[in-house]
Amino acid sequence: SPMAEQEERFRESVEAIPATSVGPRRRAQRAEIGDTFENTPDSDPALPEVRAWAKEALEATPPPLTSPVLESAEAVDDVVATAVRAQAEWVARPASERAALLREAARELEKRRGTFLTVMAAEGGKTLEQADPEVSEAIDFARYYADRVADLDSDLAADGARFTPCTVTLVTPPWNFPVAIPMGGVLAALAAGSAAIIKPANATPGCVELGMEALHAAGIPAEVAQVVRTDEGEVGKCLVSHPDVETVVLTGASETAHLFAGWRVEHARGARVYGETSGKNALVVTPAADLDLAAADLVTSAFGHAGQKCSAASLGILVGSVADSERFRRQLIDAVQSLRVGWPQDLSTTMGPVIAPPEGKLRRALTTLEPGERWIVEPRQLDDTGRLWSPGLKEGVAPGSFFHLTEVFGPVLGLMRADSLTEAIELQNATAYGLTAGLHSLYADEIDEWMQTVEAGNLYVNRHITGAIVRRQSFGGWKESSVGPGAKAGGPNYVAQLGRWEPDGLPT
Ligand code: ALA
Repeated sequence: SPMAEQEERFRESVEAIPATSVGPRRRAQRAEIGDTFENTPDSDPALPEVRAWAKEALEATPPPLTSPVLESAEAVDDVVATAVRAQAEWVARPASERAALLREAARELEKRRGTFLTVMAAEGGKTLEQADPEVSEAIDFARYYADRVADLDSDLAADGARFTPCTVTLVTPPWNFPVAIPMGGVLAALAAGSAAIIKPANATPGCVELGMEALHAAGIPAEVAQVVRTDEGEVGKCLVSHPDVETVVLTGASETAHLFAGWRVEHARGARVYGETSGKNALVVTPAADLDLAAADLVTSAFGHAGQKCSAASLGILVGSVADSERFRRQLIDAVQSLRVGWPQDLSTTMGPVIAPPEGKLRRALTTLEPGERWIVEPRQLDDTGRLWSPGLKEGVAPGSFFHLTEVFGPVLGLMRADSLTEAIELQNATAYGLTAGLHSLYADEIDEWMQTVEAGNLYVNRHITGAIVRRQSFGGWKESSVGPGAKAGGPNYVAQLGRWEPDGLPT
């Protein structure tokens, strides 16, 4: 097919590009500490051949959906029973064979990079800049979790405990990272020796189907990695609280996690809902910051994927003279106004659409000011779809207010003022959440103070606060941003939480 030919041409062009993400010195340093994992390089959008390939991919028609829609409790029972049967065979395979299949899955995912761009643009409105690294992340999950399979075996030898995976893991991913997060959940389950059932977010099923197709093409049995769609009502509830679903891996709103845990407890299951939930994230800028860098990182963190990331910066907390700096304010305004809002099919778009016409908290954040707030750049609805909004920047967000404490998930950045770093950290820690947090400061003392006291799972110093990288920045929250044991995605303990460690019965 023409798409397959495109993919082939693209792979050849990419293979010709040296992977520059890790220089020889860093590589040598890593080898010294026994860390040889290398992240998958993204496509370089500066290259004309990449742009030509991406344009074609973004404009292509996505493949039709094929996964079954479950409409009854009996249909749920059948799917789960299939998973239980398949898991017995899956877990009996040698660990090395499971790991090899995951590595093959990484290759199959890479082959579909262009088709992923097609489907992510069509379903989720993702631009090239946002979508391409997500494919790399999914591939990294496959390779990194493949490495973790061996840990489960070596730990058995080390302390006389046997790892028993969950029989069936249900993965319920979000629409905002419709490839990396679903694949991460499924691949972790498979690495553990569990069977996976995935229920895509309603807005982005095609992204998940394509990922699962890659896994099946790699040789992972379809029965051990099933994708099913359901409504969010009774049938969904049956699946989440099914007696043979041992663990639910959720990425989504905190309310959904509580809802799922409630359903399971109601049916006398262990809650066993593990996941990463909401955030209300701030980036602090002190007078000791490189302000050029800080302005750029604030804008990247706030408006990437139109702010629809659990990791996004929703607040900029400006300390002392930074809050009063006319120059910094001007830089922020220029950066916000130079974002080009549009559809992903247009390669000059730097901020895509929101997933649906805004309602509720997001509509409130885009259309109203709370007491004390002023628009610096007022957001506007740009067309009749209701999905294209220009980015909003406001100041005067008051401590304890709606915008200070509530996740809104869209293209609005609010500025707060603090008189000291200590006060800034108090504002940063005041929310119920603790997902990502950023600091821009070049003073070691300030960095130390901040690192000791900030309450978030993912801390970024002098860098944007989105776009965690597998193995380098394993990703997970604190406080209301996390449910369950809290092992971080893309980190060393993630796979091992999808099971139990039990004495193996040998005398010690
Ligand atoms: N892992 C995603 C990020 O870091 C949520 O932005």
